[in-house]
Amino acid sequence: MSDPNFDISVNLTVKSAPDQTVVDIVVLPIHDNDTFPPSLSEFDNLGNGWLTRLFESGQLRGKRSELTLLGVPNPDGPKMLLVVGLGKDNPTRLDAFEISAAAIKSLLDRPRGRVEVKVAECISTDDHDAIVAGALTACEGQALYRSDPSLKLPTEIAFVGMSQEQLDRGRAIGESINETRRLVNEPPAVLYPETFASSVEDIFSGTQTVVEVWDEQRLNEEGCRAILAVGAGSVRPPRLVIMSHQGGGDEPPIVLVGKGVTFDSGGLSLKPSDAMIDMKCDMAGAATVVGVMHALQRLGVKQNVIGLCGLAENMVSGSSYKLGDVIKTRSGKTIEILNTDAEGRVVLADTLDVAKGYQPRAMVDLATLTGACMVALGRDVVGAMTNDHSVFQQLEEAASNEGELLWQLPMFELYDDHVKSKVADIKNIGDGRWGGAITAAKFLENFVDGLPWVHLDIAGPAFADTPRPHRDAGATGVMVRTLVRWIESL
Ligand code: BES
Ligand code: MN
Ligand code: ZN
Repeated sequence: MSDPNFDISVNLTVKSAPDQTVVDIVVLPIHDNDTFPPSLSEFDNLGNGWLTRLFESGQLRGKRSELTLLGVPNPDGPKMLLVVGLGKDNPTRLDAFEISAAAIKSLLDRPRGRVEVKVAECISTDDHDAIVAGALTACEGQALYRSDPSLKLPTEIAFVGMSQEQLDRGRAIGESINETRRLVNEPPAVLYPETFASSVEDIFSGTQTVVEVWDEQRLNEEGCRAILAVGAGSVRPPRLVIMSHQGGGDEPPIVLVGKGVTFDSGGLSLKPSDAMIDMKCDMAGAATVVGVMHALQRLGVKQNVIGLCGLAENMVSGSSYKLGDVIKTRSGKTIEILNTDAEGRVVLADTLDVAKGYQPRAMVDLATLTGACMVALGRDVVGAMTNDHSVFQQLEEAASNEGELLWQLPMFELYDDHVKSKVADIKNIGDGRWGGAITAAKFLENFVDGLPWVHLDIAGPAFADTPRPHRDAGATGVMVRTLVRWIESL
């Protein structure tokens, strides 16, 4: 794991009233209006109407996400003000998250001491947690191994005008998103199936969430030949991790299933170098499941939820699985392997079969499954495929409330034929490259036995090439917020 010096330790507090004298920076939200924002008045007096002058000359405005950092010309006030634009309309929950994140992120270029965030009155109290979660995600980046940390964390962030309850909630969600992102950002020599599994054990040690790890021997006994096949070419043996959160009495559980390919070289169907560069991110589905389970535990959510991570490293060696191999999966169905780079669905075949054993009321799998999904929807949108319209609608509503982008792709019966094999029950690629995201989902559908199920292809949004004002490049933690919200809504 990365150097513990880089662990996020921002001290978060709630304050009932501002306390200017000991504060280094005050973060002040303003609307995009033609009249002087009243929230600036108390600071205006520190410099003979300096803020009024700036405002009237058009130097200070509240456009969405506009940031203006000002030195305060008076030793009686904080050292600096960061004026943050909220735009014209009342901020949504997504605005609260992203604008807060962008504001905090802009301060991390140097050590800042104590930062005090004034919570805008126009933000619904229900969304105060998003301000905290956004601030925390701004504090985690992909530079886990820079000797000089690129994000210099403030010693404290205090939120003025927020309840302790909302702060705790936002902290639980923000830290869970960061947990997911940290796992994804770790390099593949550090994070492989065994170390992924032991990280999960560490994360939940001392909590009510029970963690079980299946090693290669147990995977063998369980008949998880598909997971073992994908991992066969690696010196790092596969694992299956089961997390169980019990909060809902005797009710049947929700099961979350994550693709955890800790590195995807493509196997014998080797990827070209350019396509392999980011393939440490191919366990993002599994890391998302861990992040969600962590949030459920921290929030004490009253639902039964099982989280499953199918973990393997897809490598090239004399023991790799091969094209033409036929694998008898745990379910008994046989798969013909025609491309070893379509390994995620093979791992998920056995993992979904384990999920079925819990007789769940619904299953959701998350996977960086296909480049085709990125061709269809671009880099920022999650592809959703389902056999159950009502579960999908619940997820869609949760996603829209959180502002995470998700779009459904069809599962017409005509695609079923595309994964039929001449020698086995199904094959692991479609006919040609068309509809690749959907044929992958059709493959998975063979392993859900008609149970209510939604497949989320996160190949695009799980890992970002470029930074945005509100977050670093690298792992994004997409879908953690949506899934937590969905489970809480049940
Ligand atoms: N892990 C990849 C999909 C992927 C691509 C994730 C880019 C994130 C970014 C997956 O295992 C894969 O290689 N899929 C193949 C499937 C094909 C061989 C049928 C693909 O999409 O090309
Ligand atoms: Mn692959
Ligand atoms: Zn993959």
